[in-house]
Amino acid sequence: MKTITIITPDDWHLHLRDSPYLEAVAGDTARQFGRAIIMPNLNPPIRNVEDALHYRDRILAATSLVSNLGTNQFQPLMTLYLTDNTSVEDIEAASDCEFVFGAKLYPAGATTNSDAGVTDLSKIHGLFEAMQKHRLVLQIHGEATNPEVDVFDREKVFIEQSLSQIRRDFPELPIVFEHITTHEAVEFVRAGDHFLGATITPHHLLINRNALFRGGIRPHHYCLPVVKREQHRLSLVEAASGGESHFFAGTDSAPHSQTAKESACGCAGVYSACCAVELYAEAFERAGDFTHFETFMSRNGADFYGLPQNRGKITLNQQEWRVPESLVYADSKLIPFMAGETLNWKFQQ
Ligand code: DOR
Ligand code: ZN
Repeated sequence: MKTITIITPDDWHLHLRDSPYLEAVAGDTARQFGRAIIMPNLNPPIRNVEDALHYRDRILAATSLVSNLGTNQFQPLMTLYLTDNTSVEDIEAASDCEFVFGAKLYPAGATTNSDAGVTDLSKIHGLFEAMQKHRLVLQIHGEATNPEVDVFDREKVFIEQSLSQIRRDFPELPIVFEHITTHEAVEFVRAGDHFLGATITPHHLLINRNALFRGGIRPHHYCLPVVKREQHRLSLVEAASGGESHFFAGTDSAPHSQTAKESACGCAGVYSACCAVELYAEAFERAGDFTHFETFMSRNGADFYGLPQNRGKITLNQQEWRVPESLVYADSKLIPFMAGETLNWKFQQ
């Protein structure tokens, strides 16, 4: 059987929610990944170091029984949620805390649980300055929130109207442009220096916007930023598989119950954690080139965050298997990405 062995990967963008849903999903990530950047968009959000440390304890309790190979205990890398009221002291405390690895900018109204997000970037220039000084990573949900802007153009407009300016004003602020979805984002990041990186999800590598409407409306393919045209997917595949140091894996695995997804106003979010590494392998398989798989999965993100690479290894077997149709999600059900479909690489337990 053909196998691929790589350094244990990390997930540089993950939603774990909170109890009891946290316990339902955390093991899926902890089995495959060494570390994950944990998104702070709980309700209420993770606003300061104290919230982050309590949340970290709950995550560690949920993952303590599972570790990917027994060699590494899964490490949650915490982030704060920026609001109009976040203080410079909150940023300083975060940069002094060994368990906090960044602060997330959600433009208010951009996505799930972003109501407490930032209403106007000019209100948080002082925070950007403090983050730049302390080299605390700014993770950005990069979409314009003006409702007049076409939903498929929101990332491009955010680059033009906001991100370019942040980069000009704070050139040494480390920024991760999260879950990029467009050719324009790939080009923008590629043209940047080592203060700029980007995560790419498995679903944005595997589907284009036709998948939202194949035979009817497909709520389990709906996420934000929404999947785009094929030409954009191809740019993302080229960026991920090319080994360029700016680009790294971040699943944006974002669980919502089946009923919350299959609704007249379904939530944004794709659940991929149960087979995340296998989905990335599928994308590289379809691209026909695994040369830089380990670089994308296990090296570039750690290098960007200034962290050592994981010590363990994981192996994938070339073997057909089917993604489960559904998973238990506390009192509810969770439909994973590509439920019931066949993948060609299987994580070796
Ligand atoms: O699709 C998404 N789901 N995009 C986000 O930005 C947030 C996430 C969630 O928390 O459900
Ligand atoms: Zn996310």
